[in-house]
Amino acid sequence: MIYGLIGEHLGHSFSAEIHARLGEEPYELRELAPEEVPLFLREGEFRGINVTIPYKQAVIPCLDEISETARAIGAVNTVVRRNGKLYGDNTDAAGLTRLLQRTGADLRGRKVLILGTGGTSLTAMYAARALGAAQTVRVSRSGRDGAVTYEQAAAEHRDARILINTTPCGMYPRTEECPVDLERFPELEAVADVVYNPLRTNLVLEARKRGIPAEGGLYMLTAQAVRAAELFRNTEYPPDTAEEIYRELLREKENIVLTGMPGSGKSTLAAELHRLTGKPVADTDKLIEEKAGRTIPEIFREDGEERFRDMESSVIAEVSARGGQIIATGGGAVLREKNVTALRRNGKLVLLERAAETLVPTEDRPLADTREKMDRLWREREPVYRAAADCTVAMEGTPEETAREVESRWQA
Ligand code: S3P
Repeated sequence: MIYGLIGEHLGHSFSAEIHARLGEEPYELRELAPEEVPLFLREGEFRGINVTIPYKQAVIPCLDEISETARAIGAVNTVVRRNGKLYGDNTDAAGLTRLLQRTGADLRGRKVLILGTGGTSLTAMYAARALGAAQTVRVSRSGRDGAVTYEQAAAEHRDARILINTTPCGMYPRTEECPVDLERFPELEAVADVVYNPLRTNLVLEARKRGIPAEGGLYMLTAQAVRAAELFRNTEYPPDTAEEIYRELLREKENIVLTGMPGSGKSTLAAELHRLTGKPVADTDKLIEEKAGRTIPEIFREDGEERFRDMESSVIAEVSARGGQIIATGGGAVLREKNVTALRRNGKLVLLERAAETLVPTEDRPLADTREKMDRLWREREPVYRAAADCTVAMEGTPEETAREVESRWQA
């Protein structure tokens, strides 16, 4: 191995993709048992490796030297060979620093709440202090190890300005969870979440809804990798390297979610976008029909709308957990807030807008099979569609032109 990552379970790591973009190819993932770690470090032929859970502390005694940062945090995530010696550093701190800066927050003199007491919480304390925080308070369920409980945090630290989540709360498959009620911290100026799957946790979405700048962990992951690559190669990358790679990753991993009225052209446009981007299409109406083994008019007739909506929510929950797709939703998908939240965790919602009088009622649409029903639906739903949209595209040009417009708005 020349470059790579060691840890215990590496199945879902994005590191190989990021390092490939930095020119470190091949970047191998090597799962090691605890007793294999010292031998690997001593005899491995690597130039530079990253270290992840649970070996960030365990590697330290095997190294010849570690950086000030790694010593202060008590964890190493990058090991390089220099003149035959093993040197350990911690680039998670640089990654988290960049993530905090990306929120636009100024930490100087601020009180910072850090959720969690695991390894990453130590990195967060270090990064927050390095950025000038006046006070860091760690929060955990037990309130042990120098932390306060969530109840204490809400009672005694209501004035916190910055919040950093270092717990796995909100991470796939626990995507419905949110570690805190932001209502209890009315003075927050920024939220950073180290979780990157989903791209935006409920915590990040909840913060943004309140107008608080918030960022998810993919940018931190990218920035720590860039810093590690600099150590591997003893070089410096241009300052916007992390930002560029982050944007590329987002383009690849984020979903394009098409919303809009029945008959607005979501399925047609999904096919066009597939031709343009190569991303696979998930059509929620089709998936519902496949699962149920019945057509939508049949489901409405036999089970009623409410049961249809439940099926729709469960298909949306499943589809929106994955990234890199075009999702064509049914016209009523945005009626339930929890569908919108699920879709937004890994995607951007693009509202396809067409003049109401050009929406054509069809027989296979139980809620829009007459002109009257179609017009009523539009009046009722227009504000809901607008509130759920991250951006809106008018269905005016050819499908190809509109698809290009959707892609550019979605990327912006
Ligand atoms: C519905 C729209 C339909 C389908 C179902 C309900 C709605 O999808 O999900 O008939 O409530 O607007 P289209 O928007 O693709 O017609």
